[in-house]
Amino acid sequence: MKKVRIHHFAEMKRRGEKITMLTAYDYPTARAFDAAGVDILLVGDSLGDNMLGYDSTVPLTLDEMIPFARAVSKAAEHSFVVADLPFGAYEVSPQQAVESSIRMMKLSGANAIKFEGGRRIAAQVKAVTDAGIPFCGHLGFTPQSENALGGRRIQGRGDGAYDEMLADALALQEAGAFAVVLEMVIAPVAEKISAALDIPTIGIGAGAHTDGQVLVWLDALGVGDWHPSFSKQFGSIGAAMRDGAAAYVAEVKGGQFPTADHTFDE
Ligand code: KIV
Repeated sequence: MKKVRIHHFAEMKRRGEKITMLTAYDYPTARAFDAAGVDILLVGDSLGDNMLGYDSTVPLTLDEMIPFARAVSKAAEHSFVVADLPFGAYEVSPQQAVESSIRMMKLSGANAIKFEGGRRIAAQVKAVTDAGIPFCGHLGFTPQSENALGGRRIQGRGDGAYDEMLADALALQEAGAFAVVLEMVIAPVAEKISAALDIPTIGIGAGAHTDGQVLVWLDALGVGDWHPSFSKQFGSIGAAMRDGAAAYVAEVKGGQFPTADHTFDE
């Protein structure tokens, strides 16, 4: 399979081919998704709540994220790798955003950076893209601002919401973003924004008319006991892990494992 590169996303939007993005945080998972043909592996800051057991994405630091992004980048032969900057790594100034992005790119080998916000971080995005770093935006529900948004709330409802989100999306496009994630945005607003932008939109809980789709892999493949209503379960990895571990425990306790097949002779 050919390596996915940045120019492919605009081409995919032009010919109406949907872009696929899944989160990945480690080497074996990234290898499986790469082999499955996923276009973009996102080392999301959802790492914090999904893999490290934090209550939200907010406590995660740049230094914590880098080894995970490096593992995913090492695994990706086909997929394009996007790494998030966590809360606190870019908001202060364009200089901070460029320094954090360069650090992430150099130490992880990721192909692009993503962070959250629209017009309020457009100067940061411009500085990052001017430094030669591909950038993916993130609008709608932005988990790093969960406290300011009043929790996990659907975005795009109410008078003026479309105009505000469109102004943010256009500011990101103008600043050089190659794509924008739209999270938990009502479908008609996501559809209109997708039509208004030249760059692709990648939706999560944003309906069927964005230019691509992204899911947190643990939600999509059934790892936890809960998944958001917008995420279909395409597998049941959690049950397979529990069953496998339970079989191991039973066979060791019962003396059925190991057998001669698993034993070294003299
Ligand atoms: O961190 C993440 O996983 C994300 C997706 C929800 C898009 O940003």
